[in-house]
Amino acid sequence: MRIIGFALCCALVVGCAEAPESEGEVPAAEPATGEMVYTRFCFSCHAAGIAGAPETGVFDEWADRMEKGMSALLQSTKTGMGGMPPKGLCAQCSDAQLIEAIEHMLPEQQGAAP
Ligand code: HEC
Repeated sequence: MRIIGFALCCALVVGCAEAPESEGEVPAAEPATGEMVYTRFCFSCHAAGIAGAPETGVFDEWADRMEKGMSALLQSTKTGMGGMPPKGLCAQCSDAQLIEAIEHMLPEQQGAAP
């Protein structure tokens, strides 16, 4: 009986000891696409217009801002604006990633505009 108990005990210990390793290595960070950046960082404010943020895809809220051009939008995103912290909280984002995230938020140019 003692031998069986010992063997069982060992099996449990070994089983547990292996568990963390079997989770594997965390894959190297892939370059985030604009959509990923948007979902992770910008969505929280821009999806519902929190703190006065222009809502994603709502033409009326973006019309004036789009007139400034992408480089101006990028600039205000990088420095922060009103209730938006610098880089919209994505401190590690490159300019290209921020531009993609902004493009993801802009409304499609719908024919509905007057
Ligand atoms: C904490 C909330 C918050 C987060 C997170 C956030 N924003 Fe904003 N954003 C705002 C607010 C509020 C405004 C409006 C600022 C104003 O007009 O004073 C704004 C405005 C903007 C504008 C318009 C700037 C202009 O010049 O008119 C752009 C572009 C923008 N955000 C992009 C982004 C991007 C890209 C991200 C994610 C990387 C992001 N925001 C994340 C709150 C946020």
